[in-house]
Amino acid sequence: MAHRIQNSRVWEERLAQRNFVQEGVPASAFTSKPPEGVTVVSLSWGLPDPDLFPVERFAQASERVLRREGRQALQYGGSASVTHLAEWIAQRVARFGIQASSADVVVSNGSSQGMDLLARLLVDERDEVWVEAPSYFGALRIFASAGARLRAFPVDGEGLIVDAVREALQEAAAGKRPFPKLFYLMPNYHNPADCTLSRTRLEALAELAQTYGLLLLEDGAYGELCFSPEPLPALKALAPEQIFYMSAFSKTLAPGVRVGWLIGPSGVADRLRDQKVDGATSGLVQAIVAEVLRGMDFDAHVQQLRQRYQQRRDALVRGLKESLPPEATFVLPSGGFFVWLQLQEDTDVEANLPQALAAGVDFVPGSAFYLAPDRAAGAGRSSMRLCFSYSPIDKLEEGARRLGMLLSGFPRTTAL
Ligand SMILES: Cc1ncc(COP(=O)(O)O)c(C=O)c1O
Repeated sequence: MAHRIQNSRVWEERLAQRNFVQEGVPASAFTSKPPEGVTVVSLSWGLPDPDLFPVERFAQASERVLRREGRQALQYGGSASVTHLAEWIAQRVARFGIQASSADVVVSNGSSQGMDLLARLLVDERDEVWVEAPSYFGALRIFASAGARLRAFPVDGEGLIVDAVREALQEAAAGKRPFPKLFYLMPNYHNPADCTLSRTRLEALAELAQTYGLLLLEDGAYGELCFSPEPLPALKALAPEQIFYMSAFSKTLAPGVRVGWLIGPSGVADRLRDQKVDGATSGLVQAIVAEVLRGMDFDAHVQQLRQRYQQRRDALVRGLKESLPPEATFVLPSGGFFVWLQLQEDTDVEANLPQALAAGVDFVPGSAFYLAPDRAAGAGRSSMRLCFSYSPIDKLEEGARRLGMLLSGFPRTTAL
């Protein structure tokens, strides 16, 4: 026992022995504290507006489910409502052009678990997984934890630059570089860049997937939250056998229910379900969500969300246009929760976060959305993600004003 006494917290020693890079920044990293007495307008948290959660419907649905089918809903496997929910999801995704039966729908704990199931099923240590740059940090964490080697491909205002992927696939097919097990991407309302893949690129990517047998994981987290009258088709609609599609109720009903779904190519659903190592996705919660959906006009609800988030986008954008220095640029988001702001190249956004907090505004530094080696080389250093979904309109305008004043005086670095 004597060798242990040096450090009573043995787990810290074991942790220090780990030798892999934990890619992706945990969400807890964004809760920086402002100086005392400063009230911050938060533009950092990617949270839905809690006033839009159908709380009363959940209260009533919970009671009804427990009284009507409590014994089954609380059992392993859940009640028949589990099947009803899968049927509802299969019908809903048809509006994005996805053909699926309830048996094809793998219900998961949020869409995060969908990614994890796929990583468990497909990814061996040191396999390549390709992602976008920037990308959603939660996904980077999941694939890196599975032991994948991540390689990032740039996006611009029209989404993923598909020509760069084509070139890499040609090299991989010629044996000059490893072929990826999977490509993870957000075709619509990207987090953080809030770009949307143009129709031309969408078609080109679907064709590449078919030509090279490339598997893609399409993240449709914000797919319902478009600011156009009609939702955009999913990439999966164009190449169903190459694409896994995932989404969740996190942005439409409430993230706290932790109910999402993954729909893969034909025949894979049971293999994905077999990867669950956490017992199950709660049958009780699935039954309550199914009951909530049964009693509501979901289209009308989503319409209300779109209007609210579009008003907030407009408020933030208005404030930014009035206050930002001319060198700051962004693409107008056509859905989702975020504005991705690009500053002059020699700006070090992360270094200036304490100053921003002192001025009463916060954001997520762009570097958080890049892979560690790219971050070290300066990727994302002069960008920031601003979230418009959470704060009310007057706060968004005020936040934009504070940010504008601050950016005009941001100290610059000379070397990148
Ligand atoms: C692009 C994207 N994908 C996936 C997720 C995870 O969603 P969930 O809460 O459903 O696991 C998020 C959460 O913010 C996200 O922004």
